[in-house]
Amino acid sequence: MPTSPRILALGGSLRRDSFNQKLAAIALAGAREAGADTTLISLRDFPLPLFDTDREAAEGMPEAAGKLKVLFREHHGLIIASPEYNSSITGALKNAIDWISRDEDEGEPPLAAFRGKTAVLCSASPGALGGLRGLVHVRSILGNLGVVVLPNQVAVSRAHEAFADDGSLKDAQQVAKVKALGSALAGHLWKLLA
Ligand SMILES: Cc1cc2nc3c(=O)[nH]c(=O)nc-3n(C[C@H](O)[C@H](O)[C@H](O)COP(=O)(O)O)c2cc1C
Repeated sequence: MPTSPRILALGGSLRRDSFNQKLAAIALAGAREAGADTTLISLRDFPLPLFDTDREAAEGMPEAAGKLKVLFREHHGLIIASPEYNSSITGALKNAIDWISRDEDEGEPPLAAFRGKTAVLCSASPGALGGLRGLVHVRSILGNLGVVVLPNQVAVSRAHEAFADDGSLKDAQQVAKVKALGSALAGHLWKLLA
């Protein structure tokens, strides 16, 4: 019996009504429908100080970073819905990546939160490009950390008009595209784990 893929999804925003958090949930539903075990988290629930090596040396890893790192380690796949800030990744997402990229003890393999994981990326923005430019940077960062980032990605433009009040996407074709992203990741992992 093959192991079911475990997929973690998050938005790269701290905003309460984040479009990207909603997008992460929809992509994750696609992964769930493809048989994956799924976990949705919000970075809002992992408040982190700005990474600082002096602070790390004095106090170690903050509890929230430790919890986030365990979650990354426990999952095979990642769905990251990354807002675009000034053509790039948000400070919140980069800061979280920086914290969990750190080793906590001697015996720990380097970059344990990332190496061997597979990810897909998506973004949503009120702008016409849907945050597409930021995904180039997220792809590069994750790739350098040892994550295999699948070529599939989706950018939802005019996000302020695209989502209904309940967090769903209004357009059925767009829903299908976003869910297909999650199911592609699950399908890839099913093959990898077989
Ligand atoms: C500091 C800042 C920079 C931004 N830069 C961009 C940008 O380069 N491209 C873009 O499409 N939207 C940009 N935006 C708009 C965001 O896409 C928008 O705030 C979006 O709602 C963020 O995602 P969220 O809803 O998941 O928080 C920027 C917003 C902020 C606050």
